[in-house]
Amino acid sequence: VGTLGEADLRGKKVFVRADLNVPLDDAQNITDDTRIRASVPTIKFLLEKGAKVVLASHLGRPKGVTPKYSLKPLVPRLSELLGIDVVMANDCIGEEVEKLAAALPEGGVLLLENVRFYKEEEKNDPEFAKKLASVADLYVNDAFGTAHRAHASTEGVTKFLKPAVAGFLMQKELDYLVGAVANPKKPFAAIVGGSKVSTKIGVIESLLAKVDILILGGGMIYTFYKAQGYAVGKSLVEEDKLELATSLIEKAKAKGVSLLLPTDIIVADKFAPDAESKIVPATAIPDDWMGLDVGPDAIKTFNDVLDTTQTIIWNGPMGVFEFEKFAAGTEAIAKKLAELTTSKGVTTIIGGGDSVAAVEKAGLADKMSHISTGGGASLELLEGKTLPGVLALDEA
Ligand code: 3PG
Repeated sequence: VGTLGEADLRGKKVFVRADLNVPLDDAQNITDDTRIRASVPTIKFLLEKGAKVVLASHLGRPKGVTPKYSLKPLVPRLSELLGIDVVMANDCIGEEVEKLAAALPEGGVLLLENVRFYKEEEKNDPEFAKKLASVADLYVNDAFGTAHRAHASTEGVTKFLKPAVAGFLMQKELDYLVGAVANPKKPFAAIVGGSKVSTKIGVIESLLAKVDILILGGGMIYTFYKAQGYAVGKSLVEEDKLELATSLIEKAKAKGVSLLLPTDIIVADKFAPDAESKIVPATAIPDDWMGLDVGPDAIKTFNDVLDTTQTIIWNGPMGVFEFEKFAAGTEAIAKKLAELTTSKGVTTIIGGGDSVAAVEKAGLADKMSHISTGGGASLELLEGKTLPGVLALDEA
């Protein structure tokens, strides 16, 4: 992938596709500005080089023009972070955009309105991509979180704007989620959690070819337990994935990967924050109880094993961490990874939505080597897939 270099950017209009798809509350306040902050280094670099930035993003999944999904609420925060007054267009293509782009001073930013207000964006319509491209001289894609979508502003536009290169955020995401995973310092451990094995099959299979240690947690483990003949009570089980679970265990064995399932479980009498809870061995979950977190013995074993590693990738929580009573397993992993990063220089990579939320909730986000800004995109990368938004840059 081509990257932002020392090219002469002075006076050039640069189309920057960022992923500014941040959560907004009912009053249109930004509830998490991580993605805006993550986009700042690339934009600042361009501004310092004297470029004129035309900034584009989607927000949400609107069907047509929907005020609720306007990018306007982002302008104050973006202006504050960049230290300039960001100009906002009412559209992402058309006459007004052309005029505002032409009037941009060196070091100025024009934020376009939500590209998904046009259905042509998701259809990757070439005419629409051409219109987006028409206001700029070159293209920078920093929208890692949307790189798994072959849309007009992430893929199509590269046919009309060259060079098309990766921004710093995109580059960092690829360095960790592709680079560090392909060439890890060993031993290399993966921790995979989350509620369903069906959504993580691709990730587990792909990681089994790379890791020395695979730790499993979250709701998916009960399918593995049942496949091994353990009593699972009322725990979540994907009945149609029992054979798959057995085959994943066998694959791990064949590849010499040490696969760890929790030895004890915190069970609940109902799926609720105020449920009764107790610790039981993983082999004997009582009838009428359901597993909602990993137990203290499991945490101790996981911590001891993680102490031996040099690279760790984590995707998916260990339990229902949204409920305080069942958050201990997930919090323990977050703490362990933070400790290993800061005290032993272990490379720690957090990929995917829920584990990122858990790390942030624990206040440990700045302690990890890398926290991905992409949910679906990081999952697809970990599955070994090539992302269309990245491929388009390679080809450009
Ligand atoms: C995300 O939030 O994962 C990205 O912004 C992509 O959004 P999408 O799933 O609506 O394409």
